[in-house]
Amino acid sequence: MKNILVIGSTGQIGSELTMKLRRELSGGTTVAGYIPGSEPKGKLLESGPAELANVCNAKQIADIVDKYDIDTIYNLAALLSATAERKPLMAWDIQMNGLINILEVAREKHCAVFTPSSIGSFGPDTPRDNTPQDTIQRPTSMYGVTKVATELLSDYYYHKYGVDTRSVRFPGLISYTTLPGGGTTDYAVEIYYAAVKGEEFVCPIAPGTFMDMMYMPDALNAAVRIMQADPRYLVHRNSFNIASMSFEPETIYREIKKHYPDFKIRYEVDPVRQAIADSWPNKMDDTCARKEWGWIPRYNLETMTQDMILHLKEKLL
Ligand code: SER
Repeated sequence: MKNILVIGSTGQIGSELTMKLRRELSGGTTVAGYIPGSEPKGKLLESGPAELANVCNAKQIADIVDKYDIDTIYNLAALLSATAERKPLMAWDIQMNGLINILEVAREKHCAVFTPSSIGSFGPDTPRDNTPQDTIQRPTSMYGVTKVATELLSDYYYHKYGVDTRSVRFPGLISYTTLPGGGTTDYAVEIYYAAVKGEEFVCPIAPGTFMDMMYMPDALNAAVRIMQADPRYLVHRNSFNIASMSFEPETIYREIKKHYPDFKIRYEVDPVRQAIADSWPNKMDDTCARKEWGWIPRYNLETMTQDMILHLKEKLL
């Protein structure tokens, strides 16, 4: 990885991943790709080049790859699960037509490609607990359909054309920099904002609903490490289960209450998000990622909560 294009650089993952790549990888350029209406600002804009990079415009992507001699593309453009249920055709367009554009550019210009998959690639028939790496993937949401297809298409381009595609199945990601939007796991971010602002939290997910979650620094490490992994040890490619913590709303609420004893939660369950959450695993088994490329998470619920609160206090108060 030397010259990198991050598509979706102003989103929840992209805004932090672009900065990490610029900080940690020396001797190359990391281009912040964006779409109109989500232009990079502040440090993201000042610390390196930015280019319009719409996944649905293959020529635009190809021109950037030529201009900066790009060797690796992080394709982070996506509609999250609840939004994708409202706009299924748009989700298909961005996630699938966008992906094939990227893969074609990568095939012609010899780029490696990371396109994240998700816990959303599993469905109600998947074993819920210790969900294996290789198992049933029959998701019932449009988001999930596009994520399974992403995994298959990425593997297809690897086997058929030798395009170096790799990825991970992200759990719900928790961060204090850029808010997610339209995801089923967003509640686990929003609950921290409510606590730090001294507000009651209205939770859209029912108590008892377990899902895998992860703190952003671990997710970013995974995204970088997988692309740096020695390919000789990769048995799998698209896509690896990665896990660090699994909880339900009451667990995270109790952890935050240790810092804010008066914090209150109330449940107003959103049926769309709840149905999606009910179809996802409780907890994934990430043994293959640990064995094949040395995946190790650093944060658990307790340490993540301390760090989130510390940073959100600086940001919001
Ligand atoms: N965080 C995503 C969502 O909730 C899942 O990958 O849609």
